[in-house]
Amino acid sequence: MDDITALILDDHAAFRRGFARLDDASDTGQMRALWEPLALHLEIHAEAEEVILYPHLLRRGGEDAEEESLDAIRDHNKIRDAIAESRRHEVGSDPWWAAVWQARRENTEHLGEEEDEGLPDFRRHATVELRAQLGEQWLAFYGEHPDGRGLIFRDKDPERYVASAQPQDPQAQQ
Ligand SMILES: [Fe+2]
Ligand SMILES: [Fe+2]
Repeated sequence: MDDITALILDDHAAFRRGFARLDDASDTGQMRALWEPLALHLEIHAEAEEVILYPHLLRRGGEDAEEESLDAIRDHNKIRDAIAESRRHEVGSDPWWAAVWQARRENTEHLGEEEDEGLPDFRRHATVELRAQLGEQWLAFYGEHPDGRGLIFRDKDPERYVASAQPQDPQAQQ
């Protein structure tokens, strides 16, 4: 089974490619066809990290785990807000592009921080078994929520999240 951090990196690469493809979109049909699945994937990914990864990083990460998690939730909120803003405008309009670019910049900054801080911290502190177990949970999460079905994407209060986050699977708490 794949390590959860490898699965997360796969998604990150898909996000970078998705935004790059938007540069070549030449009509609103293409823009919509590229942006809507990308926006949904960004939302599902953030939710999956908040449910599966960050509770474990908080539990077993290094001394910066709390700050890394607070930063991640703040960044996820900014990405969600930009996506929500894009949905208030006609595809291809100036305000729509402004919101898409806001999501892109927030996402690019966030991926860098996650890849250079939170994920290395998690790799250094989690066992190989836990990483594989969470990889299994990650794939199951996507399978259980096709197209995000059953998920509610809303901003979270970072401090409250950090105070109450609990690993999902009791077996994985050892
Ligand atoms: Fe991520
Ligand atoms: Fe993230």
